[in-house]
Amino acid sequence: MAEVNVINTKSQILEILSELNVDDVQTIEKWICSGSYKEDLQKLKTLQDLEKPLKKIGTTLKPMVPFKAEMPTETIIPPEVGDQADCNEVNTLHIDEFLYDVKDVEKLIKKGKIKKYYCKDCGSRNSEELIVTSHSMSRKALQYIFKVLLPADLKGKQLLDVGSRLGAVLYGAYYCSNAAKIIGVEINKELCDIQDKIIKQFSMDKNRILVEHSDVTNVENLIKTTDILVVNVLDFFVDIQKHIEIWRFLRKHLKKGAHLVANRSMVDTFNCLDIFEEFIDWLTICKPYQIDNEMLFDVEEYSEIYLYTIM
Ligand SMILES: C[S@@+](CC[C@H](N)C(=O)[O-])C[C@H]1O[C@@H](n2cnc3c(N)ncnc32)[C@H](O)[C@@H]1O
Repeated sequence: MAEVNVINTKSQILEILSELNVDDVQTIEKWICSGSYKEDLQKLKTLQDLEKPLKKIGTTLKPMVPFKAEMPTETIIPPEVGDQADCNEVNTLHIDEFLYDVKDVEKLIKKGKIKKYYCKDCGSRNSEELIVTSHSMSRKALQYIFKVLLPADLKGKQLLDVGSRLGAVLYGAYYCSNAAKIIGVEINKELCDIQDKIIKQFSMDKNRILVEHSDVTNVENLIKTTDILVVNVLDFFVDIQKHIEIWRFLRKHLKKGAHLVANRSMVDTFNCLDIFEEFIDWLTICKPYQIDNEMLFDVEEYSEIYLYTIM
């Protein structure tokens, strides 16, 4: 069996090398022969270990929420503007990426639990692939945020997630960073209760991680002391007016030098809300702090996660 594994791995490596030019093959050869790959391999293993508690939390959360991870008390409406304005009840499938990763989704499709396509005019073969959206960030995206995008050392820093939902960002920050204070602000009480249960069940330090049941526009004091603000697209949850109100509020209270992590370009967000001119000087885009770790990720997958600094 071991021999088969080695043969398969060699075959895969050869396949990859065959796609590269001579110079790149030499660089890879040097990386292996000098032994420096060992350090990177160790980093990858550490990353895989960090994912374990997140996976365990996902498994614990699954029976606590409906399959689509949308609560009965929520009103989730496809947005009127922006890159998700084409989503509707018929063409969109909500799968929570924190609970179900790509492999899980493939398994669900195989089992017939979810469908990949919808019929454009019933009965015919004129079908179309469903748009898949997630209301939470995936485990991998969270690791990318804390192991590539943000500074490695968040000692003494406060992180706040706007609309913390199932708590994915909070747990990511808890296990993948040394941030001192991790705060989730969530408007839906049912979701706050779920996060509190997980925090308790996993014996997390309540001095370090907490959930505030509130509209984010009511927590001025928490925003003022925040060093890292995380905002996952809010389009399905707020109308245009509320969305603008939230950004104006954040601009008023977030301190200079604070970081903003967003999973859509802020240019696109401000443009679709028609407030680009008003916000143009508020922030500037930043390069990832831990660029050496990029090789541990399929970077293209996370090209929509941006880091900004408040000016
Ligand atoms: C896209 S989800 C974000 C989930 C989470 N941050 C993550 O990335 O995994 C947006 C969340 O924001 C919450 N929300 C909407 N409006 C809010 C507001 N004004 N204040 C606080 N939370 C809000 C919604 O209830 C929803 O759970």
